[in-house]
Amino acid sequence: MPGGPQESTSQDPWSLSFMTLEWVGDIDGCLHIIDQTRLPQHNQQRILKHPADVIEAIQQLAVRGAPAIGVAAAYGLCLALRGCDQIDQVRALWQVAIAPMRQARPTAVNLQHMVDRMNRVATSPSCTDLDGVSLRNRLLEEARAIEAQDQHFCRAIGAAGAELIQDGATILTHCNAGALATAGQGTALSVLYHAWQNGKRFRVLADETRPLLQGSRLTAWELQQSGIPVDVICDGASGSFFQSGEIDLVITGSDRVAANGDAANKIGTYTIASLARAHDVPFYIAAPSSTFDFSLENGAQIPIEQRSEQEIWSIAGGQRPPKGIGYKNPAFDITPASHIRGWITEAGVLQPPFEAIR
Ligand code: MRU
Repeated sequence: MPGGPQESTSQDPWSLSFMTLEWVGDIDGCLHIIDQTRLPQHNQQRILKHPADVIEAIQQLAVRGAPAIGVAAAYGLCLALRGCDQIDQVRALWQVAIAPMRQARPTAVNLQHMVDRMNRVATSPSCTDLDGVSLRNRLLEEARAIEAQDQHFCRAIGAAGAELIQDGATILTHCNAGALATAGQGTALSVLYHAWQNGKRFRVLADETRPLLQGSRLTAWELQQSGIPVDVICDGASGSFFQSGEIDLVITGSDRVAANGDAANKIGTYTIASLARAHDVPFYIAAPSSTFDFSLENGAQIPIEQRSEQEIWSIAGGQRPPKGIGYKNPAFDITPASHIRGWITEAGVLQPPFEAIR
């Protein structure tokens, strides 16, 4: 891999040809994202100038992945105050922006955590007497701090998990938990980047991840740029790879981890965790503390996003199915803690009750 991930504050310190998201300018600036709905055919930017643009991008999965949508939402709230200097108006616009941003998607808790963190700053006693411009500067500073913290978490997760990777191993991953899903170098993929940088050589199997193909469109593209060998497999094929003994380790990201360790992740994750358990292959979740929700006892309490049926049938030539055929499209499932060997966090590889990050 040319260069490999280094200690740095930027997202793409090695050879990636994209920036997942970037705030450009000062308090009147705007948010640039790579439009992930267009990848890998088109490496195209979208410029977001209003909170509604950010909400739309989050809902369309133009910006996606639990940590990335948390950072995008923090900047999205700053966009609500663009061009406004009067403190009364700034506070009024802020109040209106909070709820829709917080509700843009339901499952990844990073979104709610980061909106709440921004709101705590806006309503803190230290900001009570600020004028409009000073408050806006303070809020942009907080959004930048959220982005920098996510980059730090990604590097620390990579360092914590790299020792789990054996030379010559085959590692299965699902969805995309890479640089495209964070402001840094990813969670599950950060572990792979660190191991590769440390001289380990291995190959990756990427589930294609129906219906939106985050595995074949995004993970394979991202790994290829880093020089890590990757083969895409159909979601339904992983069972046969477990059966033939080809998979040594599974690492995925998560959208929300409950207090007992149950983890929500992209639909299909529970299937591969169950297969891993049946074949005695270790299954790890890689996620920062910002993805943990200690207010929920277990995974049954995690809200699961239901998405449009069109995502299922549009891949088959975009043809509408005959009337009367039903579709169900839950975007996430819950992997029970019993199926998870360890939770790779910025504070190390942890077990419930996760004392180090509470
Ligand atoms: O619907 P998506 O593409 O936002 O789903 C993303 C995932 O499920 C990721 O695995 C998860 O957010 C972890 S990203 C570091």
